[in-house]
Formats: sequence, structure tokens, C-alpha cells
Amino acid sequence: MSNVPAGVAALVGRNLHKQPLHPLNIVSRRIQNHFRDFKVFDDLAPQVSVAQCFDQLNVPQDHISRKPSDTFYLDALHVLRTHTSAHQNQLLMQGHERFLVFGDCYRRDQIDATHYPVFHQVEGVKTWRKGQVTDETVIEDLKQNLEGLTKSLFQNRELEIRWVDAYFPFTHPSLEMEVRFRDDWLELLGCGVIQKNILANCGREGENGWAFGIGLERIAMTLFSIPDIRLFWSQDPRFINQFASGEVIQFQPYSKFPPCPKDISFWIPELYNSNDFYALVRDIAGDLVENVELVDEFTHPKTNRQSHCYRIIYRSMDRSLLNSEVNDLQEKVRQDVVGTLGVELR
Ligand code: PHE
Repeated sequence: MSNVPAGVAALVGRNLHKQPLHPLNIVSRRIQNHFRDFKVFDDLAPQVSVAQCFDQLNVPQDHISRKPSDTFYLDALHVLRTHTSAHQNQLLMQGHERFLVFGDCYRRDQIDATHYPVFHQVEGVKTWRKGQVTDETVIEDLKQNLEGLTKSLFQNRELEIRWVDAYFPFTHPSLEMEVRFRDDWLELLGCGVIQKNILANCGREGENGWAFGIGLERIAMTLFSIPDIRLFWSQDPRFINQFASGEVIQFQPYSKFPPCPKDISFWIPELYNSNDFYALVRDIAGDLVENVELVDEFTHPKTNRQSHCYRIIYRSMDRSLLNSEVNDLQEKVRQDVVGTLGVELR
């Protein structure tokens, strides 16, 4: 029943956000400095119940985030948390009024420079007692705090920010903040006014409050100019030593080894999800895969069968890959994709 590959299981407990002078730790400390009177939780276990991760947060039964295509299940009732929001209810129930939760989160997702099956988030929650504030005041306070935080994180940097309306089942209204990153808008955080039924379920009837969730890698990538999310896991001293001052420095890439692109095309079976393919590639190639892109989709006019063509980019961050090594990886992908996903190679 578990769909957690060994490669992902091996990363549980690394706690990069707690590793001194790791860029994610530097970012975490700066966020803590901004929310000085908030209680900090940074060692809550990532194994949570489906109730914590979804049910108690109003996530509908048929919501995509619950699907095993998107979430790592330990068993039918437990998952690796997909977000730090999984701890909102227990901490509200304990009576906390201002808190931050830092932690590793897990999602089955695409493979590119900003997506990795493990990433880190910080959850922030602030509540007010009954009758103290309106929703408008809560939103005002939320935006002020997050814009203040962004400004203090990105001091002296011209940073374009925009707010967009969003949907989260556990907040209403909900918003996302995006920043401009290398010609793209990068979603930095989600937030909103905590749903009243959640507060009531936690014994906080009539109270009001906000919550936000920030991706730490995205902040760190923007702040330190780290070009690839895999680097956070690197134990190469050429990476980690650059952060020894604890200051915000501009990362100097030490490697741009040549990329090795390989294409693979296959007919997909009826119940097929691209995330299963991405997970399979990640499992075989580990951190040697940089990007996987669906480059062509095609439906056969007579048989109606669907074909997918993916371009896999293999590239190591630390060294040049051997041709034979890449060919072996690609051959293994070709074999496993037939064996485990039931596709037919073209
Ligand atoms: N948990 C949301 C996510 O992971 C972020 C969020 C947190 C949104 C708190 C609203 C409130 O995308």
C-alpha cells in the first residue's frame, strides 16, 4: 500500500532546515527573526494521518491532493505530510495563538529545476480572541506581515511582487503571493483567513485568524541565486561551504557539466499518470536527472491510443557523466516503464 520509494524514504530525517549554515536554515532563521513573538515548532514528525493532512483541513474527499498519484502514502491512513498545514489543528487545539511550523514536506510531482519530491515549508498562524477583529482586519494584518517579511528577506533588492486570488479548502478568502524569478512568476506562498469551522473544531469558536505557508526552497533559490533545487541536498563542500558566513551571499555555480538529453516514447495505458513516470525516473536516476518534459502528445486517429514522448535531461551537478552511465540509466527506465507502468514502447 505504501508508494514511498527508497530514495525518498532515505531523505526523511535529514532535516535540512535544522542543519546549521545550510541555506534553508539561514532562511528559516530570518523568518523567525521577523516573527519574534511566534512560538517555533521545527521538529514535528513528517509522518501524519490522513485526518491531519486533509480531513481536518476541509480537503474534499475527491480532491486531487489526496490521490496516491500526488501524495506519498505510508499506509491507508498515513501519509508523508504534503504541507505544514497538517499541524494547524493540533496546535490550535493546544491553544497556541501565534506559531510557526518548519518542516520537510513531500509531494509526487514533475521533475525540473524547482521541483523535488521533498521540499520545506514554514506555516505561520496568528489568531485573535472572539470579537476582536473583522475578516478585513485579519487580511490587512496578513498582507502587511507577509509584505514586511518579503521586504526584510530581500533587502536592497528590487523585487516585483503580486497578489493573486487563490483557493485553499482551509482558508477563505485565500491568496497567493508571487515574485518575479528569471522571467517567470514564481509562487512563493499561499495564505488566507482560517475557515471558521476549523477554529470551532479546535475549540476556538468565534475566534478569527490567518494562516500562511511558504516554500523555503523557493525563497532560498531566489535569495541566494541557487539555480537547481537538487543542490540543497548536495553534500559537496563546493556547495555547502559557500554559506559558511550565515549571510545572504550570491551562490557561485561551480559546475555546468554537459546535459545529456534522451527521449522516450510510449503508448500509455488507460489508467496512467505522468507523476508515476516522473517518480520512476527519479527512483532510477536519483539526482542525476535534472529535467523531464512531456514534449509530444499524440492520439492515434484509428486506434485512439495515446502516445507520450518525454525528454529526460540527465546532468550531474558535481561531475561529467559517462555516456555508458547515461545509456544504462535510460535502458533501465525503458525496461521499468514497461514492467511497472504497463506502457508499450514505440
Ligand atoms: N498549505 C498550502 C500549500 O501547501 C499553503 C497554505 C498554508 C495556504 C496556509 C493557506 C494557508 O500550498
